[in-house]
Amino acid sequence: MYNSIQDTLIIGKKVIYLPTCHSTNDIAAEIVHAGLFDEGTIVITDNQVKGRGQRGTEWVADPGQNLTFSVILTPGFLPVGDQFLLSQTVALGIRAYAALYVNNAKVKWPNDVHVNGKKVSGVLIENSIQGSRIASSIIGIGANINQAAFANSYATSIGRETGRQFVLSEEFHKLLRCLDHSYADLKSRTLNDRIRKDYLTNLFGYNHAVRFKYQDRVLEGTVSHVTLQGKLVLKLLSESGMLEVGLKEIEWLKD
Ligand code: BTN
Repeated sequence: MYNSIQDTLIIGKKVIYLPTCHSTNDIAAEIVHAGLFDEGTIVITDNQVKGRGQRGTEWVADPGQNLTFSVILTPGFLPVGDQFLLSQTVALGIRAYAALYVNNAKVKWPNDVHVNGKKVSGVLIENSIQGSRIASSIIGIGANINQAAFANSYATSIGRETGRQFVLSEEFHKLLRCLDHSYADLKSRTLNDRIRKDYLTNLFGYNHAVRFKYQDRVLEGTVSHVTLQGKLVLKLLSESGMLEVGLKEIEWLKD
């Protein structure tokens, strides 16, 4: 059971808890479609049976072990051209939460959070654009908290990395505070450069060699920067030059 919280500015003042549901993003989309909601409303479930991930993948989480929820935001102040800032803001909020427990939490482009080289959290953002502005945004977050074993050997949980067991409702509250803080930075409209800098500083591969697959070739490079539109720019090591890639163009390779 998760309660609404009052010590945030926007996120989590209204929490809709469903013991089971197909996808919290889909439920949130229905709420947005119906048109009557407050910004920051959350849909959370303990048992998401048809969770959706990026690139059409499935998000699978053991029931009652993790946080699976969606936040409805209305960042009407954000021009469409700046929508990657929202993704960066969310990733930084989740990373800040993970950093409460581990000292090596990294953002993996575009918005995963990794601890000790394994994924603890993924984000699926679904924006609704009206004209040149983002009318609403559904931020779906899967954060692995207590799950001890994973079918995917590159997934982990905060509990597994720390050897601790957490109370989910308490972690939900802490995560929302981190997200709210991060979103307040974005909403201020004065901290965009700082958000971009923090994102880069905390990005996996920044000034550090990483391997990835691009057009069926295995390459090595370091992250140079991320464009305003959210494309990743890598400095190649295996051959000279730079490479600018979009979301579906590269696949990270594990060491
Ligand atoms: C990814 O890394 O592929 C993104 C995963 C996003 C999963 C979350 S869980 C809550 C919300 N509801 C969904 O169906 N997906 C997101």
